[in-house]
Amino acid sequence: MDRPRYARRVARQTDSSLKEVLESFPGVISFAGGLPDEQVFPVEQIAAVVDEIAHAPVAWQYLPTEGHPALREAIAGYMAELGVEAGVDNVLITQGSQQALDLVAKALVDPGDRVLMEAPGYLGAIGAAQNYEAELYDVPVGAGGIDLDRLADAPKGAKYLYTVSTFHNPAGCSIPRDHRPRILEIAASKEIYVVEDGAYRELCYDGQPEPPIKSFDQEGRVIYLGSFSKALVPGVRVGWIVADREIIRTLALLKQATDLATNTLGQLFVLRWLERYGLRPPVDLYRQKRDRALAALEQAMPPGVSWNRPRGGFFLWLELPRGLDAGEMLRHARRNGVTYVPGAAFRGPRNALRFSFSQVPLEEIEPGVQRLARTIREHL
Ligand SMILES: Cc1ncc(COP(=O)(O)O)c(C=O)c1O
Repeated sequence: MDRPRYARRVARQTDSSLKEVLESFPGVISFAGGLPDEQVFPVEQIAAVVDEIAHAPVAWQYLPTEGHPALREAIAGYMAELGVEAGVDNVLITQGSQQALDLVAKALVDPGDRVLMEAPGYLGAIGAAQNYEAELYDVPVGAGGIDLDRLADAPKGAKYLYTVSTFHNPAGCSIPRDHRPRILEIAASKEIYVVEDGAYRELCYDGQPEPPIKSFDQEGRVIYLGSFSKALVPGVRVGWIVADREIIRTLALLKQATDLATNTLGQLFVLRWLERYGLRPPVDLYRQKRDRALAALEQAMPPGVSWNRPRGGFFLWLELPRGLDAGEMLRHARRNGVTYVPGAAFRGPRNALRFSFSQVPLEEIEPGVQRLARTIREHL
């Protein structure tokens, strides 16, 4: 065919891979990439656990669409530790939490339906909603997470609110404890679901993360998404949804026609890993990187630049003096040997940027920050 005859939704889709922005250039220090650092992957232990499970034929058989029953039970137990009451029937295992985002949008969004989306927001959640032709309504995110007044002002009639409640991607913030029940009240007044994404929750560097919004939920309003990608390894592609039983049943029905079931080896691996080692999120190296980044920023940044101090996750959010445009500054930054993702790429303000400390080698953080500070100074 001369021209592909795509469905309408394809035209609405924006490329969320940020290929160009995430491209690496020789000699350029990158605060752009948001993947885990492979150094923290315990590959020898992983290989040993895989070897233990891979010789049994069941490791290569289909599993139920809802997931391995014992893994569902383990996740229900883990959620109980977070204050979320959940039985096995409240858990659906997914192919990473990205599939959970797809299934939720598939189940809830008809073309033209409104979805309340954080701005700046996680591109994978934006893309999932756009795949089903949602109309996005932006709710601003600041240092204290999603803006409650702006949320309360959002129009009624949306299907759900999406939020990364803890250690936000891209903004690094967390919703304070006392805002969490308030979000539920607002959601109830608007009769919408809350899709709470806990992808970074386990990567906590100081104290304890706030309890999930789901832990305050008495009426099945919150659809909670979890993932082993950051707490263990992303290549395993295992995530989960905890929600009302009826919702889980519906999502499982949709999943049947999506992939039949999540990959068996991945689920068996996670199960055996949890039995053997428990969840041991790799926090030490990331904490060190965050601290080094904060110290370097403190030292190098000119007045008028501000940033947050994330207690976990992979990202810092840097705000430049008003009038500066992080997108326009990017080419110059690269010439100075440093790169990042402009805030506008996440539907955030033009004078902000995402500074990711997860992948950059420890020893490159200080020189990278100095290059960034020089670039900003040259633009002031
Ligand atoms: C906020 C957020 N949610 C979900 C995901 C998807 O992760 P996965 O599908 O690996 O669980 C990511 C990936 O980076 C993310 O940043």
